[in-house]
Amino acid sequence: MPVHLTGRMADMTPLMAIASKHALAVIEDSAQAIGSTYDGRMSGTIGTFGCFSAHPLKNLNAAGDAGFLVTADAEMAARIRRLRNHGLINRSDVQEWGLVSRLDTLQAEVLRIRLRHLPSVIERRRRNAAQYRTELAGLPLFIPPCRNIEFNTFHTFVVQTDRRNDFQKYLAGKGIETAIHYPVPIHLQPAAAHLGHGLGAFPVTERQADQILTLPINQFLSAADISYICAAAREYFA
Ligand SMILES: Cc1ncc(COP(=O)(O)O)c(C=O)c1O
Repeated sequence: MPVHLTGRMADMTPLMAIASKHALAVIEDSAQAIGSTYDGRMSGTIGTFGCFSAHPLKNLNAAGDAGFLVTADAEMAARIRRLRNHGLINRSDVQEWGLVSRLDTLQAEVLRIRLRHLPSVIERRRRNAAQYRTELAGLPLFIPPCRNIEFNTFHTFVVQTDRRNDFQKYLAGKGIETAIHYPVPIHLQPAAAHLGHGLGAFPVTERQADQILTLPINQFLSAADISYICAAAREYFA
């Protein structure tokens, strides 16, 4: 289950090779990556399934909870349509126990309209990211890399610094809201305690959790806004 975190695609070619060698299904978590591509292929269409979130914070957002999935497997698609609605095959016959996981009509209508605006949302986020890359260049900050094979839709723009907490405080003092996606790695969540992976089990993940900082990148920010943030970052590191 590769997760295309931040809108950046996971490296699918080696993953698909492993899956094919072992006859595994691949479920792409495209919750943050609608419209992202890898080697010319849309996020969610490379694996067996692609799952999307249209939660209000996502690039394509409903006015409440919503989501959907895609698959090229017609049999699986029919089964999932059934499972999302109690396992019903008509109004009275339950073929197998299912869930209640329907996309309600009002949310579907919001998404139908918002889908038209998705390309411009993506375009503006990519423009903001490009401006960050230019104006933050040279600072002691890790900036998300961009390989030619990837089209990143920048659900978030996550930088890394070993002075993260102090840097975040400085930006807050300038009226710049930032966030940490995400502060607690999965293996350190209380829910995962029974698996026995304590602090130190995944040092790379733990180091990143301490260094990551999400800068504002939403489509409503102007070039002047991004410049203001970059100027504050340059001031801080000076
Ligand atoms: C990477 C990732 N996977 C899954 C989800 C879950 O999406 P939803 O809450 O719409 O089911 C989210 C969103 O919160 C996400 O960011």
